[in-house]
Amino acid sequence: MLFRQVRAGRDGAPFVLLKLRTMRRSRDVATPYPEHDSVTRVGRILRRTSIDELPQLINVACGDMSLVGPRPTLPYQVWHYDPRQRGRLSALPGLTGLAQVRGRNRMSWPERIEWDLRYIKNQSLRLDLAVLAYTVKAVLTGDGVGGHPRRDPIAGLEERRCAVSGHAARIRLAKPDMGEEEVQAVREVLTSGTLTGGEQNAAFEREFAARHGAAHGITFASGTVALSAMLLAEGIGPGDEVIVPSMTFISTATSVCHVGATPVFADIDDRSFNIDPSEIPRLVTRRTRAVMAVHYAGQPGELDHLLKACADHGLVLLEDAAQAAGATYRGVPVGTFGKLAMFSFTPTKNITTGEGGIVLTGDAEIADKLRLLRNHGQRQRYEHVTIGYNWRLTEMQAAIGRVQLRKLDAILERKRANAGWMSRRLAKVPGVAPPYAVPHATSTHMLYTCLVDGDRGAVLHDLADHGIEARIYFPPAHAQPVFARAGARLPVTEAVAARMVSIPMHAQLTRAELAEIADATARAVRAALAPR
Ligand SMILES: Cc1ncc(COP(=O)(O)O)c(C=O)c1O
Repeated sequence: MLFRQVRAGRDGAPFVLLKLRTMRRSRDVATPYPEHDSVTRVGRILRRTSIDELPQLINVACGDMSLVGPRPTLPYQVWHYDPRQRGRLSALPGLTGLAQVRGRNRMSWPERIEWDLRYIKNQSLRLDLAVLAYTVKAVLTGDGVGGHPRRDPIAGLEERRCAVSGHAARIRLAKPDMGEEEVQAVREVLTSGTLTGGEQNAAFEREFAARHGAAHGITFASGTVALSAMLLAEGIGPGDEVIVPSMTFISTATSVCHVGATPVFADIDDRSFNIDPSEIPRLVTRRTRAVMAVHYAGQPGELDHLLKACADHGLVLLEDAAQAAGATYRGVPVGTFGKLAMFSFTPTKNITTGEGGIVLTGDAEIADKLRLLRNHGQRQRYEHVTIGYNWRLTEMQAAIGRVQLRKLDAILERKRANAGWMSRRLAKVPGVAPPYAVPHATSTHMLYTCLVDGDRGAVLHDLADHGIEARIYFPPAHAQPVFARAGARLPVTEAVAARMVSIPMHAQLTRAELAEIADATARAVRAALAPR
C-alpha cells in the first residue's frame, strides 16, 4: 500500500511523505513506527532494497523534498531539538543523505543529527553526487534500511534523559502535600458507607466554588472529562470550532475532539505563554463557537484583551484553569472570567485528589446540565433525560480535596516566595530567562518554566545527572502526531518550545534545595553555551 505520513519539511513545515508499505493490520494504528512483526516478508525485502522509499520521488517532484538532504523527521520530534540542532531544518529534506550513507539506523538519532548538520555546512554539488553514488552502492549491496527502531529515537532519548528525573530523581518537579488529615478524611468516608455521590462531593463543590467566587461547582472524575462536559453543556459539537493554544497539555485540544468539534490552534504571547488575543480575528470563522484559554503554569494572561476579542466576535470564553486554583487577575480569582472554567486535581497540581476535576460556572442552567452529564443524564433514580456518562468523583477523593483546599493558601504563599527567590537568582545568570510576571495577575507557580539559550538537551541531561527532575512543559500540541496533519504553523509557540525548561518548584522545597536547583541550572546553561 501507499503509506502517507506527516513529516517535518524545510523550516519544520509539515508535508505528507509517501512510502510503500506491506503490513499486516497493526493492532496499534496510532504508532508512528509500526512494529517489526507487522511488516510482511515482501515488505522486508522492499525495505532492505530501499524500494519502499521510491514513492518519495513524487515528493521530490512536488518540491517537498530533494534527492539529498537530512531525512525528514516526525513533526513532534522537532520540539526536542535545541537551537543548534534546528539548523538541520534549514535544508529541504532528502530521499537520502550523508547520515543515510554513514550508517543509517545503526546510528543514534543525535549522531544522525550531527551528520545532517555537517552536510548542511558543507553542501555542494560534489557532495550530493558522492552521497548519491554511495546510496546506489548501499542499495546494490543490500545495505538498505534494516527497519525502524522499535522506539521513537528522540522520544527514547528524552526518556532516558528523564529516567533520573522520573522516579530516581532526588528533587522532583512536584510533590503532593499529603498528611494524616487526608488519611483521616478518607478513613471517615470509608466507614460512613457512602462512597460516591454524597455529602463530601457536595461540600467540596460548595467550598471550592466559594473560594473562587463562583456560584456553582460540579466535580468530575478528571480534568479532561470536565473539559468535555463544559463543551457539551455549551452545546458545542460536530461542525463547531474552538480556538485553543498549542502550548498546553494535550487534553485542552483532544477534549474538543471528544465532543466531535475541531480545535483550531492559536499562537501565544511570548512572555506569558498564554493565548495571544490578537490571534482571534485571524482564526475566527463562521463555525467558531468558543475560545478555550489556558492559564499557563497557573498564571492568567491579559484576560481583558481576551474577553474583548471574544465579545467582538460573539465567542464564549472558556477557561482551562487546570493549573490555576487560587490565581487572580486584577484581584479576582480565575474561574469566573469565562462562562465555564475547569480545574484539575492530578498529582502535579498544587492541590490534588489523585485524579479529579471541577467545573465552576455562574449559570444555574449550565450547572444543572453538567450534573446530568456527569451522572448518566439522570434527573432522579432511573429517569434518564439526556445521554450522560459516569464521570463522578468518589467521596474519598472529594474528602481529600476538602482537606487540600484548606491548605491551598499556605501552599500558594510558599510557592510565591520560592518562585520569587528563584527568579532573583536566575535573573543574574546569562542565557536564562526566568518566568515573566503578568502585571495585575498572581500565579500559582504550578510550573516554573525558564527559557534557556544554548543546547537545551544538554541542560536537561545535566540536571537529570544531578538528580533534578526537569521537563519540556509542553511539547506543542499542534506538532503531536495526532494533530500534525492539520499543518498549523505557530512561530512563537515553536520558538518558545525549543528553549523551555521547567524546573522543580513545589511548596515543600527547602532553601538548600532551591539553591541547589539554581546552581545546577546556572552550571548546566553555562556548559551548554560553551563552544564545543
Ligand atoms: C492545562 C491542562 N489542561 C487539561 C489537563 C487535564 O487534566 P486531567 O489530567 O485532570 O485530566 C491538564 C492536566 O495536566 C492541564 O495541565
